[in-house]
Amino acid sequence: MKPFLRPTWAEISLPTLRSNLRRLRGRLSRRTKLMFVVKGDGYGHGALSVSRLAQRTGLADWLGVSSVEEGAALRDGGLKLPILVLGSLYPFESFRAAACYDLVPTVASLESARRLAAMTRRMGRKISCHLKVETGMGRIGMSEAAALGAMEFLSGRPEVRVGGVYTHFSCAESSRLFTRAQLARFRKVLAAMQDRGMDPGLRHAANSAGMLGFPESRLDLVRPGLAAYGLCEGFDPVLTLKTKIVFIKTVKPGTPIGYGATYRAKRRTRLATLPIGYADGFSRGLSNRGEALVGGVRCPVAGVVSMDMTMIDVTRVKGARVGDEVVLIGRSGKDELSARDMARRLGTIPYEVVCGLTARVPRVVLP
Ligand SMILES: Cc1ncc(COP(=O)(O)O)c(C=O)c1O
Repeated sequence: MKPFLRPTWAEISLPTLRSNLRRLRGRLSRRTKLMFVVKGDGYGHGALSVSRLAQRTGLADWLGVSSVEEGAALRDGGLKLPILVLGSLYPFESFRAAACYDLVPTVASLESARRLAAMTRRMGRKISCHLKVETGMGRIGMSEAAALGAMEFLSGRPEVRVGGVYTHFSCAESSRLFTRAQLARFRKVLAAMQDRGMDPGLRHAANSAGMLGFPESRLDLVRPGLAAYGLCEGFDPVLTLKTKIVFIKTVKPGTPIGYGATYRAKRRTRLATLPIGYADGFSRGLSNRGEALVGGVRCPVAGVVSMDMTMIDVTRVKGARVGDEVVLIGRSGKDELSARDMARRLGTIPYEVVCGLTARVPRVVLP
């Protein structure tokens, strides 16, 4: 990692990730495999380091990425685990790169099955793919009829092996009824394949909320992301976002602060400036509503978050000074500001909070 001087960074705790993965593993029977979802640069944690941990410890059997580029970067980084590309591959030429990097592409349409078979024949090589079945997510995937058609078509193409069939839940954390209906639809497709003597390979459906809330959905493989990163109940957060006070001042009542002068000090106020802003992924939506922890004390954001700097009210922190560490996501003293809290404040989900941290924030991996 390049040395950094600007004191804003994210710490990625590998021991915490290991313990979350172990906890997830502990819920599975021996025959169920675990695919660790590391798309979106490992949910903003750094895909290479989290994938290496998963491989080194043997806690994941597969890795899940969203694109051929993401998978290729893992291969270039020395990852040997099987990698499923969860997105729909287009342009179809990208099947060639998937084959070269030994990635398992998703086939989400009959057309894509045909193009994959044609490409592998031309290349004179074999490839394994997983078929995606639509059961209620409404994103990518085939109807029952199309999935059976693709299976039948590929059964006559020895160069393409169907290594798995999967679907994805849209409401596993919010609707039991909807999720059960999705699982029932998926089982129906699998049964239809079985009736025709087709082997679906690995059958999978469950994301974190699916595998935790619906044990019956674990099937042959589960695909957790969120829980492994500690962003749902019962798991410990892997990422901590930190910065340091770089400037401090005491202002008189009525002093305007930041762009638009949206904040005016109500009393004599001690204000600290932090070198973090929306160009780091610290959302402007936290203007006058976010919080930071300094020495375990909650300090409200004062004024508008700008591109590179944010002010906080540190009046309640005794002896606050330049160089003091500030926690924006994570623990400080007895208190904690979680990515989930931040997401709630922003009216979004923790996925967006962590994925939104930009490349400007160095990720410091704690071994
Ligand atoms: C197809 C697929 N499977 C699994 C996951 C992992 O989901 P989660 O992070 O909720 O566990 C995702 C993430 O969005 C996904 O798109």
